[in-house]
Amino acid sequence: MDKIVSLCKRRGFVYPGSDIYGGLANTFDFGPLGAELANNIKKNWWKNFVQKRSDIYGLDGGILMNAKIWEASGHTQGFIDYLVECKKCHKRFKAEEKNSKNPSVDRQKCPECGGELTQAKKFVPMFKTFVGPVEDSAAITYLRPETAQAIFVNFKNILDSFHPVLPFGIAQMGKAFRNEITLGNFIFRKLEFEQMEIEYFIKEKDWKKHFAEWKKEIEKWVSGLGISKKNIRWREHGQEELAHYSKHTEDLEYNFPFGGFKELYGLAYRTDYDLKNHSEKSGKDLRYIDRETNEKFFPHVIEPSFGMERTMLAILSQSYDEEEIKGAKRVVLRLNPNIAPIKVAVFPLLANKPRLIEKARQIYDNLKEKFFVAFDDRGNIGKRYYAQDEAGTPYCVTVDFESLEKDDVTVRERDSMKQERIKIKDLLAYFLNKIDV
Ligand code: GAP
Repeated sequence: MDKIVSLCKRRGFVYPGSDIYGGLANTFDFGPLGAELANNIKKNWWKNFVQKRSDIYGLDGGILMNAKIWEASGHTQGFIDYLVECKKCHKRFKAEEKNSKNPSVDRQKCPECGGELTQAKKFVPMFKTFVGPVEDSAAITYLRPETAQAIFVNFKNILDSFHPVLPFGIAQMGKAFRNEITLGNFIFRKLEFEQMEIEYFIKEKDWKKHFAEWKKEIEKWVSGLGISKKNIRWREHGQEELAHYSKHTEDLEYNFPFGGFKELYGLAYRTDYDLKNHSEKSGKDLRYIDRETNEKFFPHVIEPSFGMERTMLAILSQSYDEEEIKGAKRVVLRLNPNIAPIKVAVFPLLANKPRLIEKARQIYDNLKEKFFVAFDDRGNIGKRYYAQDEAGTPYCVTVDFESLEKDDVTVRERDSMKQERIKIKDLLAYFLNKIDV
């Protein structure tokens, strides 16, 4: 884990948040490569679950919403952590790792100094804020702790605009915020993070079938990102662990390099809990009308919920590799080319030969119309390869003196380090054939 954290900082994937002011716990900033990787994960998700599916509609709802939404959704009463404080070192911890409804499973001693702990206190991990200039209770709202609620409150809008037929889904991705008190584990648990969620509306009788289908869909997507089967497993929530809205939940867990298998994504059967509550509390009829039977009812919901940062951490953990080449250590991120931040790096062999630089620049300018491409003319070629291996760049192109005569270049593949000569006129097609953008 330390090696991944240090590579992420060195190569511009992830920086600690507010670093020059001493940091802010559980916050991080994405550097140029992290921002690109995050975008590629999100684009891939949207393409797979929205663009390619005729039964799923995309939505981009607000972060700030009417506070009544969080009352109707049960979050102000049911989205609760239990907090304990050490009487000796005054550090605060979750009373228990999971959203336990049973605080009797409290920690016994401070995990830091062994001191005595206070009684567990209830704590709502939603960030509160105020709309308008007066900070009174009427102005309170919350930064959303999940993207899902924007989907439920727009359910009727989607029905009216698109007239979908069950089963169908609404997908949304974007920031969610939680006032997390458990520290550490890098980007695994952040105060602000990105969720990619689908509410899949179904008939109640079909929930088991759809639940099983979504398990397969999630596994397929994860495998397409390059995450190996041996590093994932499903774990069913016990009754005491279920979120306030769920009747059945299974987590897809990833074998992270800190502490083993931990939640990567959640898959929940939310029943008709949300639509029913919003209907009741808003006074708006959110029922669906079956076209064939004219029956009016609240659809039930299967919710696959993906975390972008955990996806990134799983991908980085899975891809990090070290090998020894002729006595020297090579660190390589074996990222799937489709999600790697930089797809191709272009190098002139020597930095002081204008003709090589000019030719390399032409190639760079041409390729960057299609891909995120890097240009590097600093240091020796070996060092440049080394830097791109650490960044997970799948292909490097070197322009040498032969290129000036024969109009071809050396293409070096990251994992095998094999090199081949490719005509410059064929380069774009060569990469388009290997990388899905
Ligand atoms: N709408 C359902 C929901 O929010 P959740 O299990 O609380 O369910 C879903 O969150 C996913 O969001 C998690 O599986 C995880 O990937 C991600 N996630 C949750 N809290 C997070 C945090 N503090 N930092 C990073 N990712 C988080």
